[in-house]
Amino acid sequence: MSETILVIGSSGQIGTELVEELRKIYGNQNVIASDIKEPNNSQEGPFETLNILDKDQLLSIINKHNVKEVYLLAALLSATAEKNPEFAWELNMNSLFHVLNLAKDGIINKIFWPSSIAVFGPTTPKQNTPQSTIMEPSTVYGISKQAGERWCEYYHKKYNVDVRSIRYPGLIGYKSLPGGGTTDYAVDIFHQAIKTRQYKCFLNESSTLPMMYMPDAIKATIQIMQAPSEQIKIRSSYNLAGISFNPKEISDEIKKHFSDFEIFYEEDFRQQIADSWPQSIDDSHAQIDWNWHSNYNLETMTNDMIKNLEQLLKQNKI
Ligand code: SER
Repeated sequence: MSETILVIGSSGQIGTELVEELRKIYGNQNVIASDIKEPNNSQEGPFETLNILDKDQLLSIINKHNVKEVYLLAALLSATAEKNPEFAWELNMNSLFHVLNLAKDGIINKIFWPSSIAVFGPTTPKQNTPQSTIMEPSTVYGISKQAGERWCEYYHKKYNVDVRSIRYPGLIGYKSLPGGGTTDYAVDIFHQAIKTRQYKCFLNESSTLPMMYMPDAIKATIQIMQAPSEQIKIRSSYNLAGISFNPKEISDEIKKHFSDFEIFYEEDFRQQIADSWPQSIDDSHAQIDWNWHSNYNLETMTNDMIKNLEQLLKQNKI
């Protein structure tokens, strides 16, 4: 039986797009999608319902499909985690241990696990945040990601586990919706601009955050996983930079397409989370170690988002 890839959390924001891309490269049958939620119809290929906290269920899926590579995308994001800290810790940490232990036991060969800009905190330098710097995260999500990074590096050093990771910035795409993050406004703003020409933003106008267009994020994910092992010198997680902007800047860019677009600001608890994160990221290690570079800027991302969302709206898909 041929070896396959398992994507855990395949119905989520990243999973939806990653499964599609991996299937183009490796073939539909060789990429197993899995999620606690049913997939949307556009995914063609094997799907397994999986509660990642159920270790036995995970092992039986891995054995059934001869899985050798796992992308673990299931997690509670920053805003949701603040509402349910204990469950967030349980889900974000135990899912990682389940997968790391399968690699330690030689059942799977390679793991991708996402970290986040949320590993940084209020005491971290905010501009051009270096790879190695002060990390005192103040959110449950950030604490779980930072601890996860330490465990990934530990399993690599101690048990030679081939685990690879990226600190994603906020991710923006038109194919799927984010759920429960602080950076979600940057997706929602496009949907509202297209549908109603108005957006009420839960962050203030000057909240600059590191962001990235989804095609760049998917490219980085596949690139780090395909790189020869010796090029992956950092086994905690790599800084990754795309585009830094604030709500005012993105709304000005949207106004170039819809001159009547209006934005209002009404901060909520997510403002404090945003204020604790960096504004821009230094990703020179990813550039040097595995030739990373991003393709999109604010203008090209906005053009592409609006073009594609308008198409989806015409087809009644959003
Ligand atoms: N986009 C995520 C969030 O806002 C950060 O990793 O929670």
